[in-house]
Amino acid sequence: NGPVDFHGQHQAGIVTPVQDRLHFAAFDVTTTSRDDLISLLKEWTAAAALLTAGKDIGQYGAVNGPGEAPPEDTGEAVGLPPARLTLTIGFGPGLFDQRFGLAAKRPKALVDLPHFIADNLDPQRSGGDIAVQACSDDPQVAVHAIRNLARIGFGRVAVRYSQLGFGRTSSTSRAQSTPRNLFGFKDGTNNLKLEEADKLEQQLWVQSEDGPDWMVGGSYLVSRRIRMHIETWDRTSLGEQEAVIGRGKGTGAPLGKANEFDAIDFGSKNADGEPKVPTDSHVRLAHPQFNNGAELLRRGYNFVDGSDGLGRLDAGLFFLAYQRDPRKQFIPIQKQLSRNDKMNEYIEHVGSAIFACPPGVTPGSYWGEKLF
Ligand code: HEM
Repeated sequence: NGPVDFHGQHQAGIVTPVQDRLHFAAFDVTTTSRDDLISLLKEWTAAAALLTAGKDIGQYGAVNGPGEAPPEDTGEAVGLPPARLTLTIGFGPGLFDQRFGLAAKRPKALVDLPHFIADNLDPQRSGGDIAVQACSDDPQVAVHAIRNLARIGFGRVAVRYSQLGFGRTSSTSRAQSTPRNLFGFKDGTNNLKLEEADKLEQQLWVQSEDGPDWMVGGSYLVSRRIRMHIETWDRTSLGEQEAVIGRGKGTGAPLGKANEFDAIDFGSKNADGEPKVPTDSHVRLAHPQFNNGAELLRRGYNFVDGSDGLGRLDAGLFFLAYQRDPRKQFIPIQKQLSRNDKMNEYIEHVGSAIFACPPGVTPGSYWGEKLF
C-alpha cells in the first residue's frame, strides 16, 4: 500500500508492477502561451511528487488553509495511503502544432495513427494534447489525483475525456498473478515484464540512436477504448471462445499445452490435421513470431461505464500499450489483428490516442523539461 518512487530514470507507471485501478485523463491545452504551458508542467510535477507520496498538495493541504479561500487539496484522499499511486504523463501530436514552437521537436515515431479496418472511433473519446495515467490500488486515490491536476490546470487545460478502469488486465512483473479480462480469460501472460531488462531496452524504452534527445528513456503510449460485446460472447460456446483466444479459459495455457507459461506451439495439429492454435486466433496473430519480433508492454484495464440504453453493458477493455516505436509495434500488429482476428466479431474499437511519454523526472526537474 506504500508509495512508488515518483523520481527515476523512467517514469513510474510503465513497467512498475501494474496496480488494480485506473483513472486516465486526456487534456486539451486551452492556453496558447508557451510560458503558461511550462508553468503548468512545473506545478503538475510538484503536485504529482506529493500525491504519489500520499501527501496533500499545496502549502496548506485540504484543511489547514485560510477559511476564505478554496482548499488547495480537494480532500477526499485525506487519511488514505497512496496505494502505489503512479502518475505518468504523455504528450499528444497536438502539442507539437504551431502554438508552442515545438513543431520541430515532434518525434517521428509520434505518428498520427492510421485508420484500421472496422474502427468506429468517437472523436470525443480520442486524441488529446496531454494524457495523465493515474494508477493505484485504491480508485479514490487515482480519482483524487486526476481531479486535483485538472483543478490546477484550470484556464490552461481542459479535460477532453477520462476513463475509469476497475480491474487490471495485465501483469508487468513475474511476481504478479495474471488477472482476467471481461471475456473471462487470463490476460497479460505473454507480456513484457519488469524482469526482462534486455527486452525492455529493445522493445520499450526509446534509445539514444532513436532520438529525439528529449525522448531518450521515454516510451510511446497507444490507448484504445475497446468495447467488448459481452452479451454476444456469453452466448458463444466454450470451445469457440478458446479458439478465438488460442488459449484455454481455465489454465490460460496455449491450446495443446498444460500450463499457462508453456511456450505456444504453432506447429502442433489436431487429429483432423488443423492447427491446435487456429491461424485466426488472437494470440497467433499478435505473437512476435508473426510480427517481425515486435512486442508491447500492455497495461490495460477493464471498464463498465453503465449501459448503452439498448439493454447492453457499455463494457470493455481500455487498452494501454507502451513501446519503443509504434510504427514497428502497435501499428503493424493492429493492422494484422484488424484484418484477421476472429475476436473482431466480439469487439469494437471506439476510442484511440497516441502519446510520447518523456523519460523520468529527477528531483528539481519537471515533466518533459528537456522538450522546452
Ligand atoms: C494476448 C485479450 C486486444 C495484443 C492476449 C491474450 C488475451 C488477450 C486473453 C492472451 C494472454 C496473454 O498472453 O496476455 C485481448 C482482448 C482484447 C485485446 C480481450 C480487446 C478487447 C489487443 C490489441 C492488441 C493486443 C488491440 C495489439 C494491437 C496482444 C499481444 C498478446 C495478446 C501482443 C500476446 C501474444 C503472444 O505473444 O502470445 N490478448 N486482447 N491485444 N494480445 Fe490481446
